[in-house]
Amino acid sequence: MKNVLITGGNGQLASCIKDVVKDLNKYNFNFIDIEDLDITDENSVNTFFELQKPVWCINCAAYTAVDMAESDSDTAKSVNVVGPKLLALASKNNGTKFIQISTDFVFDGLKGTICTETDKTNPVSVYGDTKLKGEIAVINEVEEHFVLRTSWLYSEHGNNFLKTMLRLGSERDKLNVVCDQVGTPTYGGDLAQLIVNLIQNESTAYGVYHYSNEGVASWYDFAKVIMYERKITCKVLPINTDEYPTPAKRPAYSVMDKSKIKGTFNIEIPYWKDSLRKCLSKLNNND
Ligand SMILES: NC(=O)c1ccc[n+]([C@@H]2O[C@H](COP(=O)([O-])OP(=O)(O)OC[C@H]3O[C@@H](n4cnc5c(N)ncnc54)[C@H](OP(=O)(O)O)[C@@H]3O)[C@@H](O)[C@H]2O)c1
Repeated sequence: MKNVLITGGNGQLASCIKDVVKDLNKYNFNFIDIEDLDITDENSVNTFFELQKPVWCINCAAYTAVDMAESDSDTAKSVNVVGPKLLALASKNNGTKFIQISTDFVFDGLKGTICTETDKTNPVSVYGDTKLKGEIAVINEVEEHFVLRTSWLYSEHGNNFLKTMLRLGSERDKLNVVCDQVGTPTYGGDLAQLIVNLIQNESTAYGVYHYSNEGVASWYDFAKVIMYERKITCKVLPINTDEYPTPAKRPAYSVMDKSKIKGTFNIEIPYWKDSLRKCLSKLNNND
């Protein structure tokens, strides 16, 4: 059976992919995390690829602690730049198609309208900078690549904004949430399905693509809808970014244009509130 390698296998997105492929028998999906394969270790990466000869590699491994990256830039660079480069090189040498997951944080958010794939990148954080350099490394090393930029990822797995809001909402009477950062929440289950479709269709429409759910929200809007859907009485209050200082700067407006991915693959993308309800109902069932 054909091997598909998923790095960062214990992370949020990889866990969503695990859910999507659980009844798929055409491929052998191999979810591996740092204890089995450190993507920054050249020998391990090369040996792994030579043994497994994966037909696809989905790189879900990343340094995702946006604020910590500001003071730990060496580790962030190693995981987000060196790792993808090594995986992409090994992919080229073994005929593996490569999927790199990237982020809306490659933009500075100053354009104020939706960003297309060809818009100028200008990250405003160490995390964004390393993710952009990771994209470039992949594009330079392996021709058969997909770079999928996504935003505000949440799901029933791992730690994410949805889970934080559900926890804080049950502990507090009121909560301040920033209202002047605008983007689009993305349900990991939707992105996972898209990735698996690319593989099942053996797609060759390589390139950089934007994928988020449809629609626009601030973090405040996102929090309000979460509380509303779960009938949580905690009051959500809007604040500005300068009232909630963080080590890393974030783009003020990073809504991504998805025309390219919708047109190329002839797909419809779910509206973010519909996907949020889908995720909440899965969380309910898991309770
Ligand atoms: N989360 C978001 O809001 C968001 C938004 C836009 C784009 N993205 C991108 O989406 C992708 C998936 O994100 P996610 O939320 O699933 O991240 P995640 O939950 O943090 O998962 C990343 C995984 O990579 C592992 N990892 C770290 N260093 C590694 C190494 N050297 N070798 C192998 N594995 C390593 C982590 O292990 P440890 O936990 O042990 O470190 C973790 O299991 C990333 O590329 C991220 O940049 C995420």
